[in-house]
Amino acid sequence: MRRDVSIHGQWSSKLVFVLAATGSAVGLGNIWRFPYIVGEHGGGAFVLVYLGCILLIGLPIMMAEILLGRRGRQSPINTMSTLAREEGLSRSWGLLGWLGVVAGFIILSYYSVIAGWALSYVFRAGAGSFIGQDAGGAQAMFEGLVSDPERLLAWHTIFMVMTMLVVARGVRSGLEQAVRILMPALLLLLVLMVGYAMAEGHFMEGFRFMFQPDFGRLTGNSVLVAMGQAFFTLSLGMGAIMIYGSYLNSRASIAKTSATVVGADTAVAILAGLAIFPIVFASGLEPGQGPGLIFITLPIAFGQMPGGLLFGTVFFVLLIVAAWTSSISIMEPAVAYLVENRGLHRIGAAAVVAGVAWLLGIGTVLSFNHWSGYTLFDMTFFDVADYLTSNILLPLGGFLIAIFAGWRMTERSVMEELGIRQPLLFRTWYYLVRFVAPIGILLVFLRAIGLI
Ligand code: PFF
Repeated sequence: MRRDVSIHGQWSSKLVFVLAATGSAVGLGNIWRFPYIVGEHGGGAFVLVYLGCILLIGLPIMMAEILLGRRGRQSPINTMSTLAREEGLSRSWGLLGWLGVVAGFIILSYYSVIAGWALSYVFRAGAGSFIGQDAGGAQAMFEGLVSDPERLLAWHTIFMVMTMLVVARGVRSGLEQAVRILMPALLLLLVLMVGYAMAEGHFMEGFRFMFQPDFGRLTGNSVLVAMGQAFFTLSLGMGAIMIYGSYLNSRASIAKTSATVVGADTAVAILAGLAIFPIVFASGLEPGQGPGLIFITLPIAFGQMPGGLLFGTVFFVLLIVAAWTSSISIMEPAVAYLVENRGLHRIGAAAVVAGVAWLLGIGTVLSFNHWSGYTLFDMTFFDVADYLTSNILLPLGGFLIAIFAGWRMTERSVMEELGIRQPLLFRTWYYLVRFVAPIGILLVFLRAIGLI
């Protein structure tokens, strides 16, 4: 059954949906996470697998997720159980929504801590702390921040409150305005950074690192991480895009909007890599040094370029905005559920979700200092939270979304909601969702645990 609107509201236009979904997709995942995991997994071959996952798994699953959301028009938990009922399927499909909510809490908990780093860097940039920094100085500055749990906690708290405030106000106010102006500004500044990297960094070395594949460096685990990054960066597999789809009007083309979001997200990630690696190599830094990568390389660049004080400050402000528009979408599914089923007002619901995620975030705060010695399979609390969500829960959610849309719903319902008129296009999408995406995810899982 097609539904016209969600009780939580609707985007004022298709363009706003594209902006909001792009706001959700483009975030720390593109600018902070993408470069450092490309660095850890050896560059070119990893990037190639990542791009393959985006196109063959990410794009079709994004369309499926939007289509489910728009058809159900509720929080992912209720959307899944409603659609399952309508299609005559087991109500336990609602568990898929729960899986997403759990993943969302974990992601939000550490996302806010990392966004807190960016908050702290705005003030450092503005105060001129980057001026004249070399690799050693920038490294020491980063170490100084993460070794201080109180500072991390303070910034984490501020960012979580920022997220809560916007979510409490609802989808229409605030969020729409922010994405309209600030996302294009971020893109512009990234292009400028790439220009700087071309002029002053070891651009060709950075370029080759990103695009010259050396498959010898690719392990089964790297392939899993590349796929996990595709899910993380596109906000897929946990209901964020599903709930944004539930606020989309019934006539908008799901295929076109998805392609735009995926294109913009990929462009930002590639630009971030091209801005960062040339500086990494020019400064003699290690590309595989982990989560601190951009917080060490960018200050060196800003500290040396003319106008770096201004550009550096603006850059970190925009990074925060990008993170903000993403964290809002991570919080939304759980908040919508609390409003629908527990009768809470949005304000109360946002406070509950933020509170729980904030508490969980303390684990990440401590994993960079007091708890850095406590590890599980050699991973700290933060590493576990990140690995579990990106590489396991999101792909698992995506897999189930593909199975639901591709195999469990009737073709008629799927076609009706998707509204693709060209048969070839529909067939291609359907084939990707039924076969390529789920089998691809399965193979990557099996390879990662060493079974193939
Ligand atoms: N896509 C966001 C990023 O790249 O930073 C992170 C994210 C948002 C992940 C929403 C998951 C999600 F549901």
